[in-house]
Amino acid sequence: MATTQEDKAFVLWFTGLSGSGKSTLADRVYDELSANGNRIEKLDGDVLRGIFPATGFTKDDRDEHIRRVGFLASMLEKHGVIVVASFISPYKEARNFVRQRCGNFIEVYVSTSLDECRRRDVKGLYKRADAGEIKNFTGIDDPYEEPENAEIVVNTEGLSIDESVAVIINALKDLK
Ligand code: ADX
Repeated sequence: MATTQEDKAFVLWFTGLSGSGKSTLADRVYDELSANGNRIEKLDGDVLRGIFPATGFTKDDRDEHIRRVGFLASMLEKHGVIVVASFISPYKEARNFVRQRCGNFIEVYVSTSLDECRRRDVKGLYKRADAGEIKNFTGIDDPYEEPENAEIVVNTEGLSIDESVAVIINALKDLK
């Protein structure tokens, strides 16, 4: 049984297509876990890319980005901080690099289909990618390698946000 803050730490890593619901669910799960008085930090792709604006979307750029943020996540975890991370992280090898670095890595695959992400197109990016205005767009002209052994899988299609959050929180209770 977990007794100290250090024992309780883990890295909850959301992966999935752009528009799949990663950030929305990560934010809500973060709020739920914070309410229990945990030491917790959130790492989000769009936010970190705003802080390190030179990061691009070639495979090399993404690999470097995921290595950096993965390293950061593992350092926080080592100091007893729960990390809620949300990155497309489309390449299996990069995700596994982070998994190896962390003590307790919990992968959450937000498996919303490409068709549904396209239909939502919250940021209008799929439209721009289809028009050729954005290159190397995940799911369009850049691959997304689906996780095969994610600890948690949630498909937001047909679920409310509350229901999706509940899937994750309940799965976490079983894992911890
Ligand atoms: S990752 O692939 O390196 O993990 P990350 O999660 O940090 O990506 O950032 C993804 C966000 O960047 C998307 O939600 C979207 O807003 C934006 N974006 C801009 N260009 C691209 C692109 N070519 N492919 C995917 N996302 C892009």
